[in-house]
Amino acid sequence: MGLPYRLLVKPSLRLFDSENAHKLSISFLSKFCENRFSQKMLNSIYGAPSLPVNVFDRIFRHPLGLAAGFDKSAAALSAWPALGFSWLEYGGITRYPQDGNPKPRMFRSDKDRTLINRMGFNNPGVMSVRDSLISRRSAGKWPDVPVGANIGRSKSVDNQRAPSDYADTFELLYDHADLFVLNVSSPNTPNLRELQEQTHIREVVNACVNVRERRNGMKPIILKFSPDLEKDTLLSCAGSAISAGIDGFIATNTTISRPVPKDTRSRKILVESGGLSGRPLHNKSVEMIGELYDTVGEKVPIIGCGGIENTETAWSSITNGASLIQLYSSMVFEGPSVVSSIIKGLKKKMREEQFDNFHEIIGYSR
Ligand SMILES: Cc1cc2nc3c(=O)[nH]c(=O)nc-3n(C[C@H](O)[C@H](O)[C@H](O)COP(=O)(O)O)c2cc1C
Repeated sequence: MGLPYRLLVKPSLRLFDSENAHKLSISFLSKFCENRFSQKMLNSIYGAPSLPVNVFDRIFRHPLGLAAGFDKSAAALSAWPALGFSWLEYGGITRYPQDGNPKPRMFRSDKDRTLINRMGFNNPGVMSVRDSLISRRSAGKWPDVPVGANIGRSKSVDNQRAPSDYADTFELLYDHADLFVLNVSSPNTPNLRELQEQTHIREVVNACVNVRERRNGMKPIILKFSPDLEKDTLLSCAGSAISAGIDGFIATNTTISRPVPKDTRSRKILVESGGLSGRPLHNKSVEMIGELYDTVGEKVPIIGCGGIENTETAWSSITNGASLIQLYSSMVFEGPSVVSSIIKGLKKKMREEQFDNFHEIIGYSR
């Protein structure tokens, strides 16, 4: 953990509940990182070395990006490259503004290195986010890394109307991201995960692909899966999504399953309802990355997400088939230095095991 974060930031954040601490961090980063001097300063502390990877016909400086949900309304886009991330995903964004579920709705167990959230896609809605992205670009503050947009289904829209709800948000954001993630796997929007079924998936993906064709565009559309899917369902959905024109998968979103509590304090957190992320999710995420890689890995890239917190966990996600990786929870527990520490560790391990090129380790253990 970086010294400035450990000494100054982490103790102050502990005084707040999880959601307020998060809000405070985003508010600070969104203001502090708007000028190049602050960005350079942060980058001199937290910047990661390069470990290039070519995915979706784009060079990523290294494989590690910021996962969805951290910067829900795309307020702090300039901060993430300054903190070492090579790409980022903002959102989830829905077609209509939403307050999300009642608070408290975000919980942490330090001992388990896990978060539980039932935010419920709180976000200002696509029109407001789009306006702020337009202002950011015209002010010359667009980050110089690939930017992803995470799209969710509006709570007020049922699954029958989901295809047009996703497609409308996708179209409104089309000029404001480099890649798009269709989130059909959050456990916190009623019935959302039922979209992970062949017919629904095909319709949702088709609707977005049609928009892309109308725009004569090529931007990648990626589907994010729940770790709670049975293998058969995962693979049939993946097949259906590929036939409909999907370009990649993320494995995984948060889980509704729970590990065995370590003590009374951790039991109190683990009974909270919502999606669990962080350390206890890692093995399940890697299992799914591997299952996808074995079946569709030749056709589309896989992005690994879930409990990535150090070199070993990043290595297992990549060697089981992930071309890119993302993290959320370990930023909360370890602070931003987790990014450079993972990339330095991956480079060292590649040297020790005599790999010259990052692409050689993708899927190496399968
Ligand atoms: C508070 C919180 C909010 C999240 N919001 C979203 C979201 O809006 N869309 C989404 O696809 N994933 C969301 N996620 C899931 C993360 O993107 C990621 O898939 C999950 O946390 C696993 O990664 P991790 O173990 O590194 O945290 C959220 C996670 C957390 C903890």
